[in-house]
Amino acid sequence: MPPGLFISFEGIDGAGKSTHIATLAEALRTAGRTVVLTREPGGTPLAEQIRALVLHEPMDALTEALLMFAARRDHIGQVIVPALARGDVLLCDRFTDATFAYQGGGRGFDWKSLSKLELLAQDTSALQADLMHENPLQPDLTLWFDLPPAVAAERLAGTRVPDRFEAQPVAFFEAVRAGYARRCAQAPARFVRIDAHQPKPAVAQAVRAALAERGWL
Ligand code: TYD
Repeated sequence: MPPGLFISFEGIDGAGKSTHIATLAEALRTAGRTVVLTREPGGTPLAEQIRALVLHEPMDALTEALLMFAARRDHIGQVIVPALARGDVLLCDRFTDATFAYQGGGRGFDWKSLSKLELLAQDTSALQADLMHENPLQPDLTLWFDLPPAVAAERLAGTRVPDRFEAQPVAFFEAVRAGYARRCAQAPARFVRIDAHQPKPAVAQAVRAALAERGWL
């Protein structure tokens, strides 16, 4: 059985990651892998209820951060760890880097406190003894779709009713982007920065290359 793979997809709203997650899932299935598609906040019935709250109800930055990690804890236990233990490829639309980028960078919430919550929420010792992944759990690879916030805003303009995050001004997304850059610098072996300000086929090719380099496609 091939080892389970945990791949997360990150970037500001409008970066275009959704299209590329679907394309990559198809390529991996064609290559014979079992793929689990999931997202954060969300991915379980409980975490989807939390998602509805954080995307639409007013709350302070601490409440927001705690809810993100509460949703994540449930998702890790119910979906992520079981998928990795089965040897599946789990493609996750956002994970903890989003909390550092949005609640840390965007909302200005203290980075050290987020690091403490990360260690607590991602501790797998009580979940699965023989998981092949490090504890606390981290993705094997994080694809960061990076593009200037002004370009992302243009792409999103008029496409849908904005949620609490999408409604933020470009300056908020500049801070989120800086948060992603900081996380990327802290874990360069895990991160691949994808230049998302290119035509779709070029972005898709960069995604494939990141997996091919690791022997996963
Ligand atoms: P997103 O993933 O962009 O989904 P959709 O494409 O359906 O809009 O929406 C999730 C939003 O939640 C996004 O604006 C980022 C935000 N978010 C956080 O602020 N912190 C987190 O930890 C996560 C996972 C998401």
